Amino acid sequence: MSDFGIIGIGRIGTSMARNMSSNGIIVSLFDKSHNSLDNLKNDYPELDSSLVFDDINKFISSISKPRKVLILVPSGPALDEVISLLIQHLDSNDILIDGGNTNPNVSFVNHQTIKSKNLLYLGMGVSGGVKGVLEGPSIMIGGDTNAFNQVKNIFSRITSETINGSKSFEFFGDSNQGHFVKMIHNGIEYVEMQLISSIYYLMINSKKYKYEDVAKIFKKWNDIDLNSYLLEISLLKLTEKTDDSYLLDRIDDKADDNGTGRWMLKHAVDLGCSVSMLNSAIDSRFISNNNTRSKANKLIIEDKKEYDIDFESLANAYRFCRLTNYFQAFLLMDSANQSYGWNISISNALNVWSNGSIIKSNLINALLNDYLVDNILDDKNIFNNLNELKPGLINILNTSLINDISLPCFNEALNYFNQISSPSLSTKLIQAQRNYFGSHKIKIN
Ligand code: 6PG
Repeated sequence: MSDFGIIGIGRIGTSMARNMSSNGIIVSLFDKSHNSLDNLKNDYPELDSSLVFDDINKFISSISKPRKVLILVPSGPALDEVISLLIQHLDSNDILIDGGNTNPNVSFVNHQTIKSKNLLYLGMGVSGGVKGVLEGPSIMIGGDTNAFNQVKNIFSRITSETINGSKSFEFFGDSNQGHFVKMIHNGIEYVEMQLISSIYYLMINSKKYKYEDVAKIFKKWNDIDLNSYLLEISLLKLTEKTDDSYLLDRIDDKADDNGTGRWMLKHAVDLGCSVSMLNSAIDSRFISNNNTRSKANKLIIEDKKEYDIDFESLANAYRFCRLTNYFQAFLLMDSANQSYGWNISISNALNVWSNGSIIKSNLINALLNDYLVDNILDDKNIFNNLNELKPGLINILNTSLINDISLPCFNEALNYFNQISSPSLSTKLIQAQRNYFGSHKIKIN
């Protein structure tokens, strides 16, 4: 009999199975597709003790009770199909774990459905990609406490060590909080990716720097406080070649997404929170994809000249934007806690992201050590730091504006900071206008 079942043996499922097997956990693996299962044991000898099935009945019978079954398939129809299949086959008190990127709203409904069948549920966000999941992912969990208590030993064997010396998994609450925290992680990731990409774009378009020069700057930054996994992989990709030309000269610039950023934006809109940097990061993916650009860029003639870049300003602008991104994400988490009656700990989220996750970085460690992340609005330090970094951002934005370079997320960071720093906003006149045409109430101070 096996200790644990995994459904969905794609790239992430295979990494998870290999990680578990290497850590002495006997796993049963199920996938509808033979392609995923053929050669699995040949390719990965560590899977020797695992049990591989394409028959759901045999798969279920091979797992010791109460069964723990992890689903790693895309959310949507594939996930729905697996959940209804498991509901038919599992016994009372078996544990069903959704380890995919699932919209927290869907996770909530799935939990209710599963609970009504006397099964236990965990909604679990897994970060790290193919390599991270193999070596020790970052795992964000929500759902039935009783289920969590039964699987935590397994997760402590397959995760990494965090900055606080704990293992990189955490239980965030008894509902859909696990998927919510993963969604926030991904929103932060979108902005981090866009910031790095905007910097590369600013440098290359100056016509003074080549890919190697950008990589050199990133390498230098990677040795200081600006270090991150995303910066590290970006610098590798900058100098990668394909058929003798640089990958970046050949790669199509249409950026895809799998929806997690959109979900976070929708949650923020519902809660009335500003995540303007995420909004900009998502917009830039949309703009890259739609055909407005392919028409417009034939009609508007670009007139790009050489320009200089002040690298101290650039580093400070980057620092400013990264801090503001986390600030916006923290406030959204605070707002969700208040509105939904949750108790998600922001410091625990940062701790669990500090190793194994795609957004692991020195900044996460610094946020944990130097800032009041669970009460960020009471932290004078973050406002002082942003104020000190602001001239660098203004300098870089000047360069970008004068030279027709779009820097998604940078403008939004400054605009946001200027707005939250102001005791009096343009919205006074908005209220006056609403009052005129709709007799909407206004407050007179
Ligand atoms: C992770 C990643 C992972 C995945 C997302 C990225 O933490 O391991 O976030 O979950 O790469 O799909 O999102 P997009 O495909 O939407 O960019």
